[in-house]
Amino acid sequence: MSNSSSPLDTAVIRRDFPIFTRTVRDGKKLVYLDSGATSQKPESVISAEANFYRMHNAAVHRGAHQLAEEATEAYEGARESVAKFLRATVDEIIFTKSATESLNLLAYAFSSGDSLNRFQIKRGDRIVVTEMEHHANLIPWQQLAKRTGAELVWFEVTPEGRLDLSKISELINSDTRIVALTHQSNVLGTINPLEQIVARAHEVGAVVVLDACQSAPHKAIDVEKLGVDFLTFSGHKALGPTGIGVLWGRSELLEDLPPFLFGGSMIENVSMLDATWAPSPRRFEAGVPNMAQAVGLASALEYLTNVGLEKISAHELLLTEQLLAGLANIEEAKVFGPESTVDRGGTVSFTVGAIHPHDLGQYLDSQGIAVRTGHHCAWPLTRKFGITATTRASFYLYNDASEVDALLAGIAGAQEYFKDK
Ligand code: ALA
Repeated sequence: MSNSSSPLDTAVIRRDFPIFTRTVRDGKKLVYLDSGATSQKPESVISAEANFYRMHNAAVHRGAHQLAEEATEAYEGARESVAKFLRATVDEIIFTKSATESLNLLAYAFSSGDSLNRFQIKRGDRIVVTEMEHHANLIPWQQLAKRTGAELVWFEVTPEGRLDLSKISELINSDTRIVALTHQSNVLGTINPLEQIVARAHEVGAVVVLDACQSAPHKAIDVEKLGVDFLTFSGHKALGPTGIGVLWGRSELLEDLPPFLFGGSMIENVSMLDATWAPSPRRFEAGVPNMAQAVGLASALEYLTNVGLEKISAHELLLTEQLLAGLANIEEAKVFGPESTVDRGGTVSFTVGAIHPHDLGQYLDSQGIAVRTGHHCAWPLTRKFGITATTRASFYLYNDASEVDALLAGIAGAQEYFKDK
């Protein structure tokens, strides 16, 4: 069933995803509301990855044979697909194993110890993050600050789950070198206002690093329009395989950025005592890369583009609206994050009275409903709200209105089940 005003025909879409042919927990329909953690995969992605291994497998950029040529074409073709998806230039696309690796790559490149490194962070420099960061976009910067003696400061989060920008000029001051933030919170669903932050960061000469893990799979991204300097997202949250991440950077920055991983393929010249580096993106792709996964990701991005990112985000907003309205009718339910759909994506975190989120998650699972529970790898944020955990539902293009109803019914069932416990 689709929401009557949804631009997507979810029944048709679901047929593309083999996992929805199975049931869970003794024959129950799988209601998968955990795409914020990882998305399900359409058959076309599974086949694209398998087909690489079946028909074209060889190490890219190395062999002198036909398979190596085909593999290289497929891998570099995937890079072109990603560039198109982000409205970027092909040489600005670096394949990593994950968004986490992309962010670590940057944090290490910013402290390479090379005196010629114009990005070198040092004592007295400032790194700005936000209180709503996933650990992957907090800990690399925290550790960079510790390694270099730089100062780490952050935007606080308001009770509504928005960034508090009231102190933007003090936070992003003339010592600031890096501003790293999430595009869309993986806990609150909040979409952050980039314009003001990017403008202020650039005014003081800082670079902006955007964690787009929760946005790029769901909304159309144009890196030029966003105005940021680096952006990352992971393949597996965007219908793609695990083991593949993307790092985009402005070419004039990548040109000067030192490498993070050293080894084969990332060099220009090597002697026993020294080495020089290949240009980007090869400089950042040491070793035989995750080729089949890159090809799978390209297929995923093609699938998303064919469905239409605008339609996907509109569809998810309808589901979000439905869930927020349903939760508003449950007296004991408390939503963490914006209660309207303005500047918000399809991730809804909540608690229900005194029911522990893990118990609620387990009860929902007994009904075939998959949600995530816990601190969602954003521990400082949950602490800020004075809680230890929430239950989180996150939507994607294959979810429909009946699944929101199932979740709301599941919550009512849990309230009944736990009322005397
Ligand atoms: N980062 C993923 C999430 O938020 C795993 O669930």
